[in-house]
Amino acid sequence: MVLVIGIPKETLTGETRVAATPDTVKKWVASGQRVVVETGAGVSAAFTDEAFTAAGAEIADTKVVWSSADILLKVRGPSTTEAKTLKKGTTVVALLDAYREKDALKALVEAGVTAYAMEFVPRITRAQVMDALSSQANLAGYRAVIEGAHLYGKAFPMMMTAAGTVAPAKVFVMGVGVAGLQAIATARRLGAVVSATDVRPATKEQVESLGAKFIAVEDEEFKNAQTAGGYAKEMSDDYKAKQAELISGHIGKQDIVITTALIPGRPAPRLVTAAQVASMKAGSVLVDIAAPQGGNVEGCVPDSVVETNGVRIYGPTNITAAIANDASALYAKNLQAFLGLLIKDGALSPDFEDEILKAALVTQNGAVVHPNLQN
Ligand code: NAI
Repeated sequence: MVLVIGIPKETLTGETRVAATPDTVKKWVASGQRVVVETGAGVSAAFTDEAFTAAGAEIADTKVVWSSADILLKVRGPSTTEAKTLKKGTTVVALLDAYREKDALKALVEAGVTAYAMEFVPRITRAQVMDALSSQANLAGYRAVIEGAHLYGKAFPMMMTAAGTVAPAKVFVMGVGVAGLQAIATARRLGAVVSATDVRPATKEQVESLGAKFIAVEDEEFKNAQTAGGYAKEMSDDYKAKQAELISGHIGKQDIVITTALIPGRPAPRLVTAAQVASMKAGSVLVDIAAPQGGNVEGCVPDSVVETNGVRIYGPTNITAAIANDASALYAKNLQAFLGLLIKDGALSPDFEDEILKAALVTQNGAVVHPNLQN
């Protein structure tokens, strides 16, 4: 039996990405799978139906894609209504946002589908090629700087001209994970003077190696702020107070602040207060890409530019949608690598003992099976 891989058009407002590209389609078709792509699924990411057809895909309407797929690949998890249109036994792979989308998860259970959450792929070496959080965060960090530069009414690089000298922009990056590192690199490439902060000591060297200045309260708590998994811990109130004081002295001198700080499974830490925002010069810009998790900046309104006394705060909730072509291409590659664990000799044959599949498997046989999603 030939496996059918279904690629629907994303339906969430503002979601411009798509879960396959002509390139990934070509590889699946070459290895014997049928790929059914919904009409216009890739248009907002600049992948046309013609390009998908040329790669060997069949173009079909919504109903056909959802009801014929053995494996359905998506960017976002299916909505509760969409889940009902899946045939029993379908495998769904998507960024399910499983901690928050409880109703959608229930609908997947009721539909009897096997669902994998791409955000749960573990960050082990073998899974790097499937690491969608990293592939998307990297582009998000880049794009955050571009958005900041767009909102900023001045130039980034220093320019010495006959008519006078333009001073370089001062960019401060808060949170130096995958997104923050790319934000630093991008701001440096544009010619800004860059500084950055994080609570994980390992980031100090990374920041400095990118030519930026590291700013942090480096006390005993800081030295132990990284979990074994490489993530940040929630910091004590005492540390947060010391951190806030240090940041207060720094932030008023900055032109652009990019915030990316997250703690897995928790709301984003509040790193910039309204008073600190008020201390910034008119014309300064804050881009808060932690907005989907509640934001790092006080006063950030999701998907709006809020301006107070000439200081603008922008909190995009889906910044990768603004760079949909590359974001889709990298995500589709992540999915392609993940499917390599599910398909053996043309048949759906997952090894449920594989630690990557175990970590990403969320629903199976009419139940939520992931240990972290039991309540
Ligand atoms: P994330 O998106 O969870 O958080 C972003 C950053 O915010 C982190 O660097 C975190 O330390 C920082 N943060 C949290 N609370 C903060 C606070 N109060 N003040 C300042 N900064 C704060 O992180 P991401 O990008 O997912 O990366 C987490 C770690 O995983 C990093 O060490 C990264 O290098 C590592 N990683 C490892 C991979 C692998 O081995 N395959 C792949 C990708 C990431």
